[in-house]
Amino acid sequence: MVVTEQHDATRVGIGVLRAGGNAVDAAVAVGYALAVTDPCCGNIGGGGFMLIRTHDGRERFLDFRETAPRRATRTMYLDAGGDVRPGASTKGWLAVGVPGTVAGLETARREYGTMSRERLLAPAIALARDGFTLVAGDRVPIGGPRAQPGARYAQPLLAHTLELIARDGADAFYRGPIARAIVAASEANGGILTLDDLANYRIEERAPLHCAFHGYDIASAPPPSSGGVTLCEILNVIASYPLAAWGWHSARAVHYVTEAERRAYADRNAYLADPGFVRNPVAQLLSTQYAAALRAQIQPDRATPSAGVKPGLGAAWSEGADTTHFSIVDGSGNAVAVTYTINDDFGAGVMAGDTGFFLNDEMDDFTAKPGVPNLYGLVQGARNGIAPAKRPLSSMAPTIVTQHGMLRMVTGSPGGSRIITIVLETILNALVYGMSAQAAVDAPRTHMQWLPDALHYEPRALSPATSQELRAMGYPLRRVAQWGSAQAILVDPRTGALQGGSDRRVASGAAMGY
Ligand code: GLY
Repeated sequence: MVVTEQHDATRVGIGVLRAGGNAVDAAVAVGYALAVTDPCCGNIGGGGFMLIRTHDGRERFLDFRETAPRRATRTMYLDAGGDVRPGASTKGWLAVGVPGTVAGLETARREYGTMSRERLLAPAIALARDGFTLVAGDRVPIGGPRAQPGARYAQPLLAHTLELIARDGADAFYRGPIARAIVAASEANGGILTLDDLANYRIEERAPLHCAFHGYDIASAPPPSSGGVTLCEILNVIASYPLAAWGWHSARAVHYVTEAERRAYADRNAYLADPGFVRNPVAQLLSTQYAAALRAQIQPDRATPSAGVKPGLGAAWSEGADTTHFSIVDGSGNAVAVTYTINDDFGAGVMAGDTGFFLNDEMDDFTAKPGVPNLYGLVQGARNGIAPAKRPLSSMAPTIVTQHGMLRMVTGSPGGSRIITIVLETILNALVYGMSAQAAVDAPRTHMQWLPDALHYEPRALSPATSQELRAMGYPLRRVAQWGSAQAILVDPRTGALQGGSDRRVASGAAMGY
């Protein structure tokens, strides 16, 4: 089963599985294919995380998050008066972090795959060279009639870049012609990337983050993602509430989940950052005592204003759209969850010379200035400040759920700071409320991230009566157009049958299996 937000990429993954490749082989081929067919989000110019669980229960977490260039400084996005320069961390070459995707996919293939680089890149090269037919929901960087469904979209420059990677591997990207093109374009346009930045890029292999919820084991992304920690902190707080009895999106269920989210995001923004630079208080944030202490703060019938919620571990710790997800399970039960990103839609909006791919604006995930909201409205602290070679704090949460050692769910989503609550709701929808994979990813969502102090909700997420109850409890409700694009696989615990759900919010996605 392969589930992605672009159907041609899903088909590429299925082709690899049918040809005898394992889930990691399929993930690598899909990673490159999405860089062609979903260039807003799929990428070779960004970074991400891959969570692998083999059929015999072994786990791997590959961190191929971007790093800050060596010449980056803590105050690089501030003007002379100390204010954030609008757009400096989101558009143009100064916004670009050192990309990790090619190193990540190549490491995954070499260490956990079975197929050659040429074989796994071939479908992406063909899609770029020969083009693919646009369907509703496809997001490509052209306007006008050519972007209409039914039009053919080819990217010969990107095809050539992918051919270089197929021939010379990661060296083509980090030491060869692609590195030289990136640095030349950066230098010519006010960026600070150097050949050393690219040559010195390294992925990290980390232990996945784990927590227990209602008898399930949740494995997700550790720092430098906040995804797993924040997801688990919320799950720990809400685990003892009878959510199923209260009903899906009842006022009471939304209230307690929202209050847990509010507190977990306050902690996220204050404490979490690249573990190569700060010590993350993961054990404290995920302890049962801490969950109980947070529960004790929640009033049964009142929203707590965010102004009254401070990061819960105290001052001792005050030291110093867009992304895409895909889920794959192969015939042996190997599972892979990948979320990777160039941050904003089409990243920093820049390409290097004739390379044909967009570079990320992941630098915006750092704290440009403590207290000033970033692209996602996140108000973050000094610990996530910019430093050379540091990884910006992420919210990405590729997640794998097991029960009694058996695979039950693979999931994840794009959505910036909302990724965590999307993954949370997808898990609750499937495992607490008994929804199918498709219903779990499609169900309308709510979101709270401490600041801004607003309960965001999608159209139809709350009934009129529930909205009224929540308003009476003191919630500022903010209706937002739909967000995210969850891509989930559920495993039937009795039969082992796989059920895929590709979020209908992105119409070009597809879940396919055989
Ligand atoms: N760029 C979005 C994230 O990593 O959270």
